[in-house]
Amino acid sequence: MKIAIGSDHVGYELKPTIIEYVKKMGHEVTDFGTDSTERTDYPIYGKKVAEEVAKGNFDRGILICGTGVGITIAANKVNGIRAVVCSEPYSAELSRKHNNTNILGFGSRVIGSELAKMIVKVWLDAEFEGGRHLRRVDEIAAEELKDNAEFEKIRFSNDEKYY
Ligand code: RB5
Repeated sequence: MKIAIGSDHVGYELKPTIIEYVKKMGHEVTDFGTDSTERTDYPIYGKKVAEEVAKGNFDRGILICGTGVGITIAANKVNGIRAVVCSEPYSAELSRKHNNTNILGFGSRVIGSELAKMIVKVWLDAEFEGGRHLRRVDEIAAEELKDNAEFEKIRFSNDEKYY
């Protein structure tokens, strides 16, 4: 897969370890910054990686900040993004299987590099199960269209799908 990665200055030092690990798993990785420990703002990188994934330029994204929280919130503002912040592998795996997450976030001040790698591995390997989970993910996607004239048509043309 093609993986986009980004971090703020706090996540910066963990990033090379994750890039190397993801490459070893056989994926292609592109780093969207930041490029140093100089103080910066996590929304810049959350948005950038999210836009690349949402546009289809990358299959998935990985984001790192101090807690993983801010950068993941920023990513979730981009339509089409389902970003999860994880500190353990169970949620990472289920976020793929049930929620079809396309961005994984974690905190360099929260977890160490070995746990981060374990979380990354289960998240990259797990597949979306679809079925009843697809209906729920579609309901989230429908919310993104609520300011669009097409929204009511899409939402109510398919009652069974949503209820
Ligand atoms: C930066 O100090 C810190 O707030 C950031 O890395 C992140 O933890 C935000 O959610």
